[in-house]
Amino acid sequence: MFSIEQSIKDQFVAVANHISYPLFPENLYTPIQYINTLGGKRLRPLLLLLANDLFGGKIEQAMPAALAVEWFHNFTLMHDDIMDNAPMRRGNATVHVKWDTNTAILSGDVMLVKAYQFLQELHPTVLPQVFTLFNQTAVEVCEGQQLDMNFEHRNEVDVEEYLQMIRLKTSVLLAASLKMGAIIAGANSKDADLLYQVGENVGIAFQLQDDLLDVYGNPSQFGKQVGGDILANKKTFLLLQAQRRASLEQQKQIDYWLQKTSFEPLEKINAMVGLYEQLNIRAIVLEQINYYTNGALEALTAIDLPKSHKLRLEQLLFQLLVREH
Ligand code: IPE
Ligand code: IPE
Ligand code: MG
Ligand code: MG
Ligand code: MG
Repeated sequence: MFSIEQSIKDQFVAVANHISYPLFPENLYTPIQYINTLGGKRLRPLLLLLANDLFGGKIEQAMPAALAVEWFHNFTLMHDDIMDNAPMRRGNATVHVKWDTNTAILSGDVMLVKAYQFLQELHPTVLPQVFTLFNQTAVEVCEGQQLDMNFEHRNEVDVEEYLQMIRLKTSVLLAASLKMGAIIAGANSKDADLLYQVGENVGIAFQLQDDLLDVYGNPSQFGKQVGGDILANKKTFLLLQAQRRASLEQQKQIDYWLQKTSFEPLEKINAMVGLYEQLNIRAIVLEQINYYTNGALEALTAIDLPKSHKLRLEQLLFQLLVREH
């Protein structure tokens, strides 16, 4: 990672790690501290702080919003892991497995409230606009999560519906993080909106890659259960493309695995990965990831600032392409 970017991330981590957690009730706060300190890429605060820096903002002024988006994100992960029945997060047991589901629900709720408490610390001149964007985004993330779950119970989902779902569940938070950074730094609305567009495109590429890593990730680096999406019948981009390209015989096999209610997990994963291989799905996903990354770069280019100022964000987009987790 670029050194200045690393330094922004380090500053965020230093502030985030300094937050103290109430001691009582212990089992409400310990899971929050647990998920927050498991790390993660801190992509959303990094985007927010980079955007703020891009328009000459001071890091201290944007820090409350950076904390808010990361706590909000971690809250969504805690609840998402319940919904997805996921055993592992960031290389460790998920909260609902390590504690229990009720704990993960309530600790998650507190994290959402805490995100608002961070936002309250913003300067009053930017607070209303950031607050409105945050709320719109939070609602959209829930809409996306609902679609994601609805699609588990449908046999077919078209690409448009899939893109709508991932835009909502993933892109809007990346986009809003960038735009909040711009707003806090006092950027004009045209540039703030262009940054939002950067985030929408990055987010789609990011979720496509998340889908890809869920199948092809290296278990020692991925930090989540490989094959989890296959087990949950998630309508990922990989599955959609496989369904579109399958021969009649391959279609039968896909339907067989989608409909089977009792199975050996590894057997289902291996069968589906075998079909993806036959249909060359990985290359198709990679092509789409490149397409949306280019979309992000185009929106970034349109922002009225010298190219050299935008280099760090540009580099970050390229680094995301080669991520392993
Ligand atoms: C995971 O987000 C949820 C998705 C939107 C795919 P990240 O991949 O940013 O997770 P962490 O924060 O780095 O663990
Ligand atoms: C999650 O998508 C998006 C949100 C948490 C809002 P995924 O369910 O694919 O995320 P991971 O793979 O569990 O991180
Ligand atoms: Mg999910
Ligand atoms: Mg999940
Ligand atoms: Mg995923």
